Amino acid sequence: MKTSDLSIPEPVKQILIKSGVVELYPPQKEAIKAGALEGRNLVLASPTASGKTLIAEFCALKHVLEKNGKTIYLTPLRALASEKYEEFKKYTSIRKPDGKRVRIGISTGDYDSTDQWLERYDVIITTNEKADSLLRHRAKWMDEISLVVADEVHLLNDSERGPTLEVVLARLMQINPDIQVLALSATINNVEELAEWLKAGYVTTEWRPINLKEGVALHEEIQFKDGDSKKIDRKSRNSSINLALNTIKSGGQALIFASTRRKAVTLAKNAAVEVEEILSKPVKRALKRDADKILAAGERTRISEMLAELTIHGTAFHHAGLGSRHRRIIEDSFRHRKIKVLTATPTLAFGVNLPARTVVIQDYKRYEPGYGYYPISVLEYKQMAGRAGRPKYDKVGEAILTARNSDEADYLMENYILAKTERIWSRLAVERILRSHVLATIAADFAHTERGIYDFFGKTFYAYQYDIKTIKSVITKILKYLYDEQMIDVCRDNIYATKFGKRASELYIDPVSAVIIRDGLRGEPAYLTDLSLLHMIAHTPDMAPKLRPYTRELDQVEVFMEEHKEELLVNVPDKWEDRMVYEELLGEIKTAMVLKSWVEEMSEDELIERFRVQPGDLYRAIQNAKWLLHATHQLALLFDSKKMLPQTLKLMEQIEKGVKKELLPIVKLEGVGRVRGRILYNAGYKTIKRIKHAAISDLVSLPLIGPRLAKKIKEQVGGFVKKEEWKKLEKGEEWEQKDLTQY
Ligand SMILES: Nc1ncnc2c1ncn2[C@@H]1O[C@H](COP(=O)(O)OP(=O)(O)OP(=O)(O)O)[C@@H](O)[C@H]1O
Ligand SMILES: [Mg+2]
Repeated sequence: MKTSDLSIPEPVKQILIKSGVVELYPPQKEAIKAGALEGRNLVLASPTASGKTLIAEFCALKHVLEKNGKTIYLTPLRALASEKYEEFKKYTSIRKPDGKRVRIGISTGDYDSTDQWLERYDVIITTNEKADSLLRHRAKWMDEISLVVADEVHLLNDSERGPTLEVVLARLMQINPDIQVLALSATINNVEELAEWLKAGYVTTEWRPINLKEGVALHEEIQFKDGDSKKIDRKSRNSSINLALNTIKSGGQALIFASTRRKAVTLAKNAAVEVEEILSKPVKRALKRDADKILAAGERTRISEMLAELTIHGTAFHHAGLGSRHRRIIEDSFRHRKIKVLTATPTLAFGVNLPARTVVIQDYKRYEPGYGYYPISVLEYKQMAGRAGRPKYDKVGEAILTARNSDEADYLMENYILAKTERIWSRLAVERILRSHVLATIAADFAHTERGIYDFFGKTFYAYQYDIKTIKSVITKILKYLYDEQMIDVCRDNIYATKFGKRASELYIDPVSAVIIRDGLRGEPAYLTDLSLLHMIAHTPDMAPKLRPYTRELDQVEVFMEEHKEELLVNVPDKWEDRMVYEELLGEIKTAMVLKSWVEEMSEDELIERFRVQPGDLYRAIQNAKWLLHATHQLALLFDSKKMLPQTLKLMEQIEKGVKKELLPIVKLEGVGRVRGRILYNAGYKTIKRIKHAAISDLVSLPLIGPRLAKKIKEQVGGFVKKEEWKKLEKGEEWEQKDLTQY
């Protein structure tokens, strides 16, 4: 089956053929035969790299160009959303029947918005959570969606992210019963079940365009599934590194999955020395430029310095503790074949296309706080392994598990490489998770009676797999809670959301968080300070994960809590009587301490050192805090809590920028972050007016402000830059370096 023979719009064919897609892969043919192009619902369950996205592209463009429809493409991760966005962008040159060009949009942030602007887009790429939040706002344009693509749909099985995807799919099918559903999945054991739930046909294949040689390495010898074996050189004590070096020598790159962040970092460090020896001069120069980019992307910290240093040596690590800008630089550098060895936690396990000829899975066990070590699932192993041998980049692929002894080698061969992937199960019926979905069902007018609510949840994958009775009892409990907290009210047989309930649902916060905030707004601590608010938001379940104190820090956090007891909106329980609550509270206090230090302008590096918090976790806490303070401000408006209004707004702005109040006016300027803001302020430029009257050469004489930025600042404040003066500055030497840095 050739691309040119397909019944898809001509310009789509042209673009695809130009990009090298001439002949369809067998799973793609099967999907076409199963009616994907005729609008049939379909679960496409096929191995990694088998080209599932292409079917989504065909269907999406068919909807847009032939059916006047709209597509929403759901992904579980932001990184995957951006990769798909890049892939879809190739179609923006095509014109629709109305003469306008096809528009591809991406939306992954801000959960309290209908994103009206998305209405103009034809294909919208988004995360499951963002789609859920849009549904809670009942964004009007969502009624026009005629195709939903659920990528990595097997993640329904994930206890945290699965339920959101499940509810989003059920809601979209409710809003538009004619919607076409295309679910893309790894090979799983119960495809039929999933398909039946989605009223879909299904295609399963075992085909992969690039042969993936799976094997187990023991003492520098790999035993492959197909009976082959291979010896590799021993250069390092770590066999994962030896496997990686072996690949680099044959011109490939390696991705090593480690079970913890710390292990990923150590591995990258140990690999660096060996990898550097094999790098060519041009690659070294290019790596140096990437290292400079890392240092310029945000404040300098010991972590960014370490990452930059490793990058120079052709290795890097990638995990959720890194900021997203750094992650992107690393991904790009690996993609452009500069970084040779990348070590990662499972942050890179799903869907992404990378030039990893070899994937090494160093550890088949994973540690989860509270659970201890457990072996990963076959499904997860297959996902990680599947990052190797992607058609765009490599002609062969290897996925290697490492074993410590022969028993373990046998175990790995049998239980991962030769094993079948598991069934997937719905994870929906957990009170903590279901709470906000029940409220949203009522608040966004999806149902107004108890019966209607049960009917909706009766259409979920959970109800399909289990029994509506189990989920019913959880829902009943939740309805009672929502009623007691005045988020819903009942009028005869009708249930409706109160203003409070409706706003809480739109704000995309857990009902429990909304109740904590509401009570906080009414509370009267002895002293109401910024710390009171920071702790209040840290106390909500939406501040997750909390930054827990490490052992040696415990005393310090306890002392701090004792000293600030009177500012807190909750009572501190007795340490010995209620140990669990007490420990939980310490985590909240530490989170509040970190946030407080952030708005007191402690440098990122000091935060990392003092609190042992990693940048990625710090940014997540900051993002969460900003979102919860937005929610607090909105609820203060709703409850007319005048005393809280200015304080919540200011604190939210401070959290966003990481500055004291006095810097707020000047950090509003583009190009001025917390570091430069402080430099300007301390040099006497305390107000916009002062900056307006400053001579540009004076601004340039300050650290970290180059001529280009100084000009940009002056332009923003309505100041004037003389031509001669500018010419003179333009010749200056430091100009590039100073302006490149982003803080
Ligand atoms: N018919 C084709 N001809 C040539 N290349 C193709 C074809 N179909 C897909 N590809 C390429 O194959 C690569 C893998 O495709 P894709 O990312 O869709 O895989 P996938 O099945 O979604 O894998 P995963 O399960 O890992 O997400 C892409 O780079 C894509 O451009
Ligand atoms: Mg995919």
